[in-house]
Amino acid sequence: PPQAAAAAPAAPNGCAANGHANGHANGADVTKAEPFVMLGGLEGHVEGILRCRRIVFIACGTSYHACLAARKTLEDFAAMPVVVELAGDFMDREAPVFRDDTCVFVSQSGETADTLRALEYAKNKGALCVGVTNTVGSAISNATHCGVHLNAGFEIGVASTKAYTSQIVALTMVALLLGADSRAKAPKRLEAMRALARLPEDVSRALALDEDMRALAGQLKDAQSLIFFGRGYNYSTALEAALKVKEVALIHSEGINAGEMKHGPLALVDENLPIIVIATQDGMHRKMVSVIEQLLARNGKLIILCNGDDPDMDAFAARGCSLIRVPATVDALQPIVNIVPLQLLSYHLTTLRGFNVDQPRNLAKSVTVT
Ligand code: G6P
Repeated sequence: PPQAAAAAPAAPNGCAANGHANGHANGADVTKAEPFVMLGGLEGHVEGILRCRRIVFIACGTSYHACLAARKTLEDFAAMPVVVELAGDFMDREAPVFRDDTCVFVSQSGETADTLRALEYAKNKGALCVGVTNTVGSAISNATHCGVHLNAGFEIGVASTKAYTSQIVALTMVALLLGADSRAKAPKRLEAMRALARLPEDVSRALALDEDMRALAGQLKDAQSLIFFGRGYNYSTALEAALKVKEVALIHSEGINAGEMKHGPLALVDENLPIIVIATQDGMHRKMVSVIEQLLARNGKLIILCNGDDPDMDAFAARGCSLIRVPATVDALQPIVNIVPLQLLSYHLTTLRGFNVDQPRNLAKSVTVT
């Protein structure tokens, strides 16, 4: 198959990607070695991708959210325009595609009909088509010119979890590979690669929040609605957390870009609606502090997802906010750590409400009709 799979160290949540972020996957001290990214499935295509006019990501559902999470990393490291499209909407518009575009099709199953249709369309337009899938031999991995295999292992539950975190890892690695020749970006790349090597440990610590998330689910299980606010890298976290809550716990939920708060969502805020604000210490931290102040001024009932050592958040806790504390990592990888407690929250909401977490009503793991 065009997407050559390579061995990679697996994180506790099954997070792994084709290739490895360092040359010493066998337990060597990567902080002393010179790390590098290797993605065998893209060999011979990196120059072509770098020469193209833009990168267009096309996906559905959770895979679309993973593309949103990785967009800025690609923009930063590859220094190229990046567009993220929902496959169905893209085809509804029959959006323009150029022969010097690179289209990246991200799909856990590799079989989603809308994504596959968009792939056929982009291929006919002469674009370079890259697949990022979790299924070797799938329709999308076979039909693309090159790609990355996630190696996340078979995903059983209908709601995607480990494929999501693995997709962000894989797309981050693609970004690091595309930026490999930039001297200006070298320190940032090194920092990201070292953070990738530490990611299994960070995710383990996030998984240790399981009991806390069960207790929080106990408080939220009868809510009519849950709102998640995030921005920047963590807009995707807000969207994905809301999708998890609605698809498995069957609670109405919305992920909202905090930058849009004043353009409507603020009207919903009162002392009853539970709002989860993602305010880890990334580039959006200062803006999120201001968002929290505005929500508190309207008596918002806030649960804040933040990093361990954050005096701003300590002050908000003293004003009645609940905190979910996660380990800090580089901005590009923070959405991976952040989604873990929120996945656990939706898991516990589901079981406490008596629903089937693996097979939610009306949904299919792979949607093979358009
Ligand atoms: C279905 C699943 C979702 C998934 C989406 C896209 O709706 O229920 O969990 O995110 O399809 O699937 P794909 O296999 O293309 O990532």
